[in-house]
Amino acid sequence: MRSYLKTTAIALALTTAAGSAQADAHGGVEVLHWWTSGGEAAALNVLKEDLEGQGIGWTDMPVAGGGGEQAMTVLRARVTAGNAPTAVQGLGFDIIDWAKQGSLADLNAVAAAEGWDDVIPAALQQFAKVDGKWVSAPVNVHSTNWVWANKAVLEANGIAEPTSWEEFTAALEKLKAAGVTPIAHGGQAWQDATVFDGVAMSVLGPDGYKAAFIDLDEEVLGGGAMKEAFDRMAVIRDNVDENFSGRDWNLATAMVINGEAGFQMMGDWAKGEFLNAGKVPGQDFLCFRFPGTAEQVTFNADQFMMFDQGGSVSDEQAALATAILSPSFQSAFNVVKGSVPARTDVSDAAFDDCGKKGMADLAAAASSGNLFGSMAHGHANPASVKNAIYDVVTAHFNGEYDSETAVAELVDAVSIAK
Ligand code: BGC
Repeated sequence: MRSYLKTTAIALALTTAAGSAQADAHGGVEVLHWWTSGGEAAALNVLKEDLEGQGIGWTDMPVAGGGGEQAMTVLRARVTAGNAPTAVQGLGFDIIDWAKQGSLADLNAVAAAEGWDDVIPAALQQFAKVDGKWVSAPVNVHSTNWVWANKAVLEANGIAEPTSWEEFTAALEKLKAAGVTPIAHGGQAWQDATVFDGVAMSVLGPDGYKAAFIDLDEEVLGGGAMKEAFDRMAVIRDNVDENFSGRDWNLATAMVINGEAGFQMMGDWAKGEFLNAGKVPGQDFLCFRFPGTAEQVTFNADQFMMFDQGGSVSDEQAALATAILSPSFQSAFNVVKGSVPARTDVSDAAFDDCGKKGMADLAAAASSGNLFGSMAHGHANPASVKNAIYDVVTAHFNGEYDSETAVAELVDAVSIAK
């Protein structure tokens, strides 16, 4: 499966060389991204239309695959071929890696003119500004420790919003007994890891999460609390349907939307799918933090890296970066995407209840020291360590390791990768 995806991705990359030449010839932008689900495409349209309104052409380069692994494979092929796209969706440590390789254009002039230093939160600046140079434009802030629930399904089964692991497992039992799939999930490594973000935070607590995934402390990676986190993953595995393997995340969201399943643990891009299906928070669906993580936020921020096209940043790249950070765009885009603004000075007035909660949670977590980069989405460590953790989490989820073995493998895999 993986090698098939890679081959397809690379073939696609090579056939789009023509697309990029076309973008340059027309002075537009070529944008590589992985926003291909219904909700994601709706959000991307907000950006496309904004630029087209300014007369800037848009060449779309979508590479399907949640979490962006396939998109990054295509990107590497394009850069190696000397044909980097103008702007590329990127996450956390990947952005730093590209900047260190000297592939990204200098956005300092745009950032200074637009006052980015004052309005973009420090947590994002650490991934957007490398060695004093702005290299990418933050689009949003997502977070991974959310649960999405079908309200009618919960009500029909006498389930209130669970606030602890015990309440959550009791709810899963009730749904199972009623013949409803308790948890909608797609068995892909990045989705397993996304669930693990919340589960690990709930058991390890904020200090333990930081020690394990950000500081890579072997004692915590290999400790008793980590074993407990894997035990909880095994409980979750027992509550997914038998067709979970390989399912795309948005199809899992659709199971909750349609009432086939009760819950999904997924980042707030899932909200974009509910909205795209005409569903209303509080009325049709519920959003809440994974039980035991009410105060914490494990975040990931989408950014557009501007690839150096030879020379200084192009007018189109500057226009794209300016459009992305404009307060009106930050509101309009994030309302649709499910994320929250990448600026601290945007009003929450246009956001629904989940969006308002997302904004309030982020601000509270930032000021109480409870905001952490998501391990699953490249904000805790570079890709080599992230992938090493993915492999162990997925092998355990698929029953290849028991929890004790998983903990030992985690310590080994991380020590080799770091
Ligand atoms: C990105 C989101 C995207 C999700 C699923 C995450 O890594 O940050 O913008 O919607 O992957 O594709």
